Amino acid sequence: MSILYTNHISDSIGGCVLKERYDRIFLLDDTQTHKHCLPLLADWVAANDAEVLTMEAGDVAKNLDTLARIWQQLTEKGASRHSLLVNLGGGVVTDLGGFAAATFKRGIEFINIPTTLLSMVDAAVGGKTGINFAGLKNEIGAFCPAAHVVIDTVFLRTLDNANICSGYAEMLKHALLHNAEMWADHLQQDLQHPDYEALGRLVQQSIDVKERIVSQDPHEKGLRKALNLGHTFGHAFESLALSQGRPVLHGYAVAWGIVCELYLSAVLLGFPTAHLHQTVRFIRETYGHLSFTCKDYDRLLDYIRHDKKNVGGQVNFTLLADIGQIRLDCHASREQICEALDFLREG
Ligand code: GLY
Repeated sequence: MSILYTNHISDSIGGCVLKERYDRIFLLDDTQTHKHCLPLLADWVAANDAEVLTMEAGDVAKNLDTLARIWQQLTEKGASRHSLLVNLGGGVVTDLGGFAAATFKRGIEFINIPTTLLSMVDAAVGGKTGINFAGLKNEIGAFCPAAHVVIDTVFLRTLDNANICSGYAEMLKHALLHNAEMWADHLQQDLQHPDYEALGRLVQQSIDVKERIVSQDPHEKGLRKALNLGHTFGHAFESLALSQGRPVLHGYAVAWGIVCELYLSAVLLGFPTAHLHQTVRFIRETYGHLSFTCKDYDRLLDYIRHDKKNVGGQVNFTLLADIGQIRLDCHASREQICEALDFLREG
């Protein structure tokens, strides 16, 4: 897989997609990226006679029906083993489009062009593809890396502030997993007034960190579990908020999850309290608070216990002994988990 950074998507994609390698080119977008992002690729689409397939936007469309419709359209429009699928969108499009490509005729090549910060630094890179199924997120899927990922930070300018902050939580996670210098750089950004040049540089660093981890453990048998930092609590917050009819963006839940998991890191592994407090201050200022009470704890513990990363009923956390010092498969007692929730609520 190669990652291409560009400021001029229409020209750059021509460089990495050699038309003669493919008999047909298809482009999958959604109703949002069709309107806001596809126009930047209009010349390339016309020059390559690319067939555009458009799915509904949003996580509700990440399902078997949409996938079947993509397979159907590929079949009807004459896609072969030698066709290419270009996915233009956020994580839903790159995950579902990647899975459609991974399975169509046992696999055709695909390219991801992520258009959200979250998908640039996470979903589009690393080869996880899939759909939601039977009410469970990403339940069906395959590990299958894109042939190329093309990153154009011009798309960041199409995002609102909440979506910038949401993607940035995964970048902060990568910085915590990497080193103190990268972490300190991340705490200095003012996301209310993004410096897009600086953000573009941090995006590259972030993708490098993820790539380095994934290349050592593509199928998540060991080291890749590091990327779950903040996600054990984070998924529980996401599920709680959704069940209460006030859904939160993924990255916000991850940021609050990082607060809880750094608290556990401090208690269980001696993660330095100065680093804990600096990180928590940034997260509070950027992401605000999730409102919940101790009456929600049982529900949250239930979500945490049912996280699909757990093995044999044991809750597995990724924690840190310090910035960059990753500890996998850590365990905490019920009391410690509740203390971490108190810390998030009261701090
Ligand atoms: N989103 C975490 C991973 O790709 O492993």
